[in-house]
Amino acid sequence: MSLPLIPAPARLDLLDGEPYEVPHDYWTAGAGPETGDVRYSLEVSAEGGFEIAPQGPGGDEAATATVVQLVELTQRRVPALRIEDAPRYAWRGLMIDVARHFFGPGTLRKVIDLAALYKLNVLHLHLTDDQGWRYEVPNRPELTEVSGATAVGGSAGGFLSAAELADLTAYAAERGVTVVGEIDLPGHTGAALHAVPGLNVEGVAREAYTGTDVGHSTLRLDLPETAAFLEDAVGALVAQTVGEFVHVGGDEVRLLTREEYLAFVQHVEALVLRLGKRPVFWQEAAPALQDTRSVVQLWDSNADPAEVVAAARRGHQVILSPGNRTYLDMKYDAGTRLGLDWAGYVDVRDSYDWDPATLVEGLPPESILGVEAALWTETIETEDDLFAMLLPRLPAVAEVAWSAPEVRDWEAFAEDLEAHVALWQARGLAHTPRPLTGT
Ligand code: ACM
Repeated sequence: MSLPLIPAPARLDLLDGEPYEVPHDYWTAGAGPETGDVRYSLEVSAEGGFEIAPQGPGGDEAATATVVQLVELTQRRVPALRIEDAPRYAWRGLMIDVARHFFGPGTLRKVIDLAALYKLNVLHLHLTDDQGWRYEVPNRPELTEVSGATAVGGSAGGFLSAAELADLTAYAAERGVTVVGEIDLPGHTGAALHAVPGLNVEGVAREAYTGTDVGHSTLRLDLPETAAFLEDAVGALVAQTVGEFVHVGGDEVRLLTREEYLAFVQHVEALVLRLGKRPVFWQEAAPALQDTRSVVQLWDSNADPAEVVAAARRGHQVILSPGNRTYLDMKYDAGTRLGLDWAGYVDVRDSYDWDPATLVEGLPPESILGVEAALWTETIETEDDLFAMLLPRLPAVAEVAWSAPEVRDWEAFAEDLEAHVALWQARGLAHTPRPLTGT
């Protein structure tokens, strides 16, 4: 029997044909991972066997995700098909802000499972901000002892112990997901200023901050304690990182002069590189960067992207997280209870219907390392809140990161997505019902 072929890279498609029962465990992995690009082929034969042939790191996990989706979405009645599939972008991320409100290993495991189901391969954890400090720095226990306990609105805080972060990192790795921790510098540092008196100009610890304003905190390189603090705090994050990248922030700094800010970024860039990792910075840092191993993450869809474009032309890779497409803390519409709206409302189609290659005029398409969804948690207090903002938009961003525009189709995606609700419900995940078709 000749099997229809879905062109690579493929969107998940259930082909026409007479469905038949396939037991869940009736598939065999093909060749093991090899060097080279991530890709896989998957064949379901008329006899009901699954054959997958993964290639490259992550190929196995991607194939498995497709098999799980096929089996569950068809209620185990999978039609004969053949898929040749490969991702469009290497970085397919989701950022969760665990600093404003803390989410611990239980929730984060569910987030990793969901990310893997949609073939995302990076979990970026925003671990520090004004309101809380969420990872351990061994020779500075006051960071987690004092600022682990704070959060927006006086909510219960928390932090990931080194053991918990290591477990989570291993759990993610088993599912093809790399954890990238972020220490946000030099702004968004109220929690550090609250825990470490010597980081303050007056030498006195700042009050805990539990509001949601931004831009009111900064570290300063002209204070004698700052460089040692950076060694310790960035060093501890690097020590807890298995992958190639650590995120070192750089956004929304309003209390330094431009010269002070650029010098701070360059100090941190050099530190991360010296410690053997590649730094990722939010877009404001773009004009400061000195080494093309450093990556720029675009986020502010209201800002002029000229400096991001210039950095890309100098050889920096770029991750695209445009607020008006991928910030899943934006409200779906005016009636959404949770979330913010500074980037506008972001409905499912907004998250789906865009092309990274043409988003930013002048950005060389080959500079695009990937796409990342982001969930900031100023208004997100519970696990149900969190998933109600991720779903149904996360699969939309994931498909932008995975599939080429010529195989994407909003109407077909929206139709398929209705079946995904059962997948989320089977995993106990909340979602926000949205009108998907005819919009
Ligand atoms: C950001 O949303 N401030 C990176």
